[in-house]
Amino acid sequence: MASIPILLIILSVFSVAMNAKAQTEYPKNITRGSILSPNTINSSWPSPSGLFSFGFYPEGNGFRVGIWMATDKPETRVVVWTANPDVPPCSPDATLELKGRLVLRTEQGEEKNVTYNDDLPDPATSAAMLDDGNFQLFNGSGYLMWQSFDYPTDTILGGQVLTSDSWLQSSISRSDHSSGLFMLRMQNDGNLVCYPANISNNPDTAYWSSGTFSYAAMLNLSHLGYLSLEGSYGKPIRFLSNGSYPVKNKTIIHRATLDSDGIFRKYSHYIVSNVSSKVTEKWSSMQNPCDVKGICGLNSFCQVVNNKSECSCYPGFVSVEPSMMFLGCYQNFSAESYGDKEEADPALRYNFTSLNNIRWDDPPYTVEILMEEACKGSCMNDFNCWAVLYESTRCRKYNFPLRYGKQSKDITTKALFKVKNIGMAKESNHNHPAPANDESRIKTVMFILGLSLGSVACLCFAFAVSSFIAYKHKYHRYKKLLENTKLGLAEDFTLQSFSYNELQQATNGFSEEKGRGTFGAVYKGILSEGNKTIAVKRLEKFVEEGVREFRAEMTTIGRTHHRNLVQLLGFCIEGSKKILVYEFMSNGSLADRLFKAVSPPTWQERVRFVFDVARGMFYLHEECGVHIIHCNLKPQNILLDDTWTAKISDFGLARLLPNQAKTSMGVQGTSLQYLAPEWQKNSLISVKADIYSFGIVLLEIICCRRNIEVNVSTPDEITLSKWVYKCFKARELHKLVEVEEVHFPTLERMIKVGLWCIQDDPDLRPLMKNVILMLEGTVNISEPPSPELIVLP
Ligand SMILES: *[C@@H]1O[C@H](CO)[C@@H](O)[C@H](O)[C@H]1NC(C)=O
Ligand SMILES: *[C@@H]1O[C@H](CO)[C@@H](O)[C@H](O)[C@H]1NC(C)=O
Ligand SMILES: *[C@@H]1O[C@H](CO)[C@@H](O)[C@H](O)[C@H]1NC(C)=O
Ligand SMILES: *[C@@H]1O[C@H](CO)[C@@H](O)[C@H](O)[C@H]1NC(C)=O
Ligand SMILES: *[C@@H]1O[C@H](CO)[C@@H](O)[C@H](O)[C@H]1NC(C)=O
Ligand SMILES: *[C@@H]1O[C@H](CO)[C@@H](O)[C@H](O)[C@H]1NC(C)=O
Ligand SMILES: *[C@@H]1O[C@H](CO)[C@@H](O)[C@H](O)[C@H]1NC(C)=O
Ligand SMILES: *[C@@H]1O[C@H](CO)[C@@H](O)[C@H](O)[C@H]1NC(C)=O
Ligand SMILES: *[C@@H]1O[C@H](CO)[C@@H](O)[C@H](O)[C@H]1NC(C)=O
Ligand SMILES: *[C@@H]1O[C@H](CO)[C@@H](O)[C@H](O)[C@H]1NC(C)=O
Ligand SMILES: *[C@@H]1O[C@H](CO)[C@@H](O)[C@H](O)[C@H]1NC(C)=O
Ligand SMILES: *[C@@H]1O[C@H](CO)[C@@H](O)[C@H](O)[C@H]1NC(C)=O
Repeated sequence: MASIPILLIILSVFSVAMNAKAQTEYPKNITRGSILSPNTINSSWPSPSGLFSFGFYPEGNGFRVGIWMATDKPETRVVVWTANPDVPPCSPDATLELKGRLVLRTEQGEEKNVTYNDDLPDPATSAAMLDDGNFQLFNGSGYLMWQSFDYPTDTILGGQVLTSDSWLQSSISRSDHSSGLFMLRMQNDGNLVCYPANISNNPDTAYWSSGTFSYAAMLNLSHLGYLSLEGSYGKPIRFLSNGSYPVKNKTIIHRATLDSDGIFRKYSHYIVSNVSSKVTEKWSSMQNPCDVKGICGLNSFCQVVNNKSECSCYPGFVSVEPSMMFLGCYQNFSAESYGDKEEADPALRYNFTSLNNIRWDDPPYTVEILMEEACKGSCMNDFNCWAVLYESTRCRKYNFPLRYGKQSKDITTKALFKVKNIGMAKESNHNHPAPANDESRIKTVMFILGLSLGSVACLCFAFAVSSFIAYKHKYHRYKKLLENTKLGLAEDFTLQSFSYNELQQATNGFSEEKGRGTFGAVYKGILSEGNKTIAVKRLEKFVEEGVREFRAEMTTIGRTHHRNLVQLLGFCIEGSKKILVYEFMSNGSLADRLFKAVSPPTWQERVRFVFDVARGMFYLHEECGVHIIHCNLKPQNILLDDTWTAKISDFGLARLLPNQAKTSMGVQGTSLQYLAPEWQKNSLISVKADIYSFGIVLLEIICCRRNIEVNVSTPDEITLSKWVYKCFKARELHKLVEVEEVHFPTLERMIKVGLWCIQDDPDLRPLMKNVILMLEGTVNISEPPSPELIVLP
């Protein structure tokens, strides 16, 4: 710790020196009307000492506009900035002209802006290529109008920062600078995170993060090569990599690049002469290249060979394009569904091929506890099952496509793939229409990729970070909602904004308190306008919440519309007062209905409640554009409207809580029993934590009693979840329900689903989608194991 203050002093001395240098006059000698064109002596503008150049550099058969280190031979050219990486390189007859803006003109006369600054029409009259690699444009009075340092592509250089809400995107390769596969985002929650570019913001796909948290943080690479994350006042939060003091007379250029393999690295270039430099890698965000998600495409897996990643297709698959393994692999036989052929026995048509030490990240659609042979048999007879991950009696069944596969010695799971028997494969060969050409194949795969990822990729960021950085109860009061909070907020804002006075009137001075929850008291009120009854919730523990973040959070909640969610109508922020206005639920909470009512709900009613809650949770987890983890599902939070429809409330609020309130939420009496074991274990909180709570709620609804009940006849019955498993094992489910008309097959199904949901091992818990399929009886439910984690020898 002591080293940091000392470091700071040194750095601040230096920064003074640097600033002084930056303010000295440098030639802005690229003037209006200057023209560059490829293949001529005027193809680039060098910096004064020749370290960097701005202009045309060759790529493929054409040219790109960019900035590169000019001290290397063209073959080893290091490009540090590229204009328009999303458009193909231009032809040799293009020209670049400084005429108020920097304009690229192709021979066809088409014009493209190389520098863009939408607010400013044509102000630039001069430009300069600086020795630190920054290209700048100035207006007639010498004001800086635009600089390449503000629009980084895949690299930042010494003296450059990556500001909050901006990102680097990797290039395809060293020789192809079009937009590549990966993205490094400086999120405005202060976390620096790597994602596959096409599905960024999804916590499930993030593969590296700095784990830092601060408002408006930025990534700073100093002139001396210190790579650090800084808080809003320039206070370093974390040093990723130390710098180095220049040796006398030696120039060092530091750069940090998101390389085309998805790893963020820092390099130092020691300039030896005006034509050569020596480069060394100084720091790397991660060591194992296979940990980068998306390096291998769908249905392929990654292996480390000679410190490099190598992708291979799973058995039964061939690659779309062997030189571009990130495009993934497709199944090279057509998989008919079972039963549509005379041959009934799938074992005659399919066989298993196994691969050891392999795993992938997607959750299985189901998990069974079986020995290996039985597991194979189960998969063979299940037409949904195409692959199995097997490890000590856990038989995890999968359908294709599979993402992010990895093989390595330290992985203990074994994979089994259902492949067509050789004779059969030949026969069906002609059935499989061979793709006409590579391009159409790529398109097909892209389409599949889009489809399969579309369902998981979440558009909104709220969920992304809330689940990604939620390790160790650092359930950061994370607020980012939209990609870009600067725009769009107002447009989607269908919520009504109330004044405090209005709400005070509506609730008659907050007189009729209807209840008190984790977040504060709830009052009944009537809006004079429209005579509408409302529930008014005064939030009490939001000391640290800023207005912008609060509004953003409300937008997220306001966008959710579902029959089984309590609708947020509006809100009020005045000073420290923060109030939410919901539709009023006239029939109280599910807890009251289940545990306090004179006549308990009928069997049909209970089944309906289960479905109501399941559908609401499914919507929160998977259907709404913003994926929300509830974190606090319990019968007290499930309300009943005048038609006795169950609606979930309090969702989306967990993230507003300050840390310590968050933790205490876990310790609070009533909530504790609904919380998944991982809350206590300081581990990652995911949707699976909600599944656990849902499981407990389901059992409570079905059995119409609290999870913990002391007034029972035998000690076995005290904890419902344990009691249910006991009865289930003993085939005595009738003990769970009172004498009434119960549909036993439904009861058994519900109990099985409940037991799967409350597994200690989050991996074993199904996703909401599967919960619904199982509840409906659409899919078979395998025998649930004991919910308590079995420690296998
Ligand atoms: C980046 O870090 C250096 C050294 O700590 C500091 O002098 C400089 O002001 C920082 N840049 C910004 C934009 O905060
Ligand atoms: C290169 O640019 C300089 C200065 O703008 C100009 O004087 C010279 O004529 C140009 N040469 C060619 C070959 O276009
Ligand atoms: C600008 O000046 C620098 C050094 O003074 C020189 O190397 C460079 O060629 C000049 N550029 C133009 C476009 O005149
Ligand atoms: C380039 O920028 C200018 C000024 O912002 C704008 O008027 C023009 O439409 C832009 N051109 C293109 C092709 O985007
Ligand atoms: C240059 O920009 C500055 C700051 O925006 C402005 O005050 C000044 O008038 C501009 N000068 C010219 C010549 O446009
Ligand atoms: C990413 O998505 C875009 C369109 O959404 C597509 O054109 C591009 O090829 C995709 N890139 C990769 C590597 O999948
Ligand atoms: C930077 O150097 C300091 C002092 O030598 C050391 O304590 C620290 O761990 C280093 N940080 C990194 C990220 O290497
Ligand atoms: C190195 O520095 C010395 C004095 O500090 C100077 O005389 C000499 O020219 C420099 N060498 C180079 C290659 O710049
Ligand atoms: C490098 O420097 C040498 C002499 O110092 C000079 O002759 C040569 O032209 C320079 N090369 C470049 C590419 O600037
Ligand atoms: C792989 O990397 C490690 C450490 O970075 C190094 O020690 C080892 O020699 C490398 N192996 C190969 C085959 O390059
Ligand atoms: C299935 O695979 C096993 C071992 O890989 C092999 O012994 C068996 O003959 C295969 N069955 C068929 C029907 O091809
Ligand atoms: C499928 O791929 C395997 C292995 O690459 C190959 O042996 C087999 O002939 C292929 N089958 C078809 C139908 O292309």
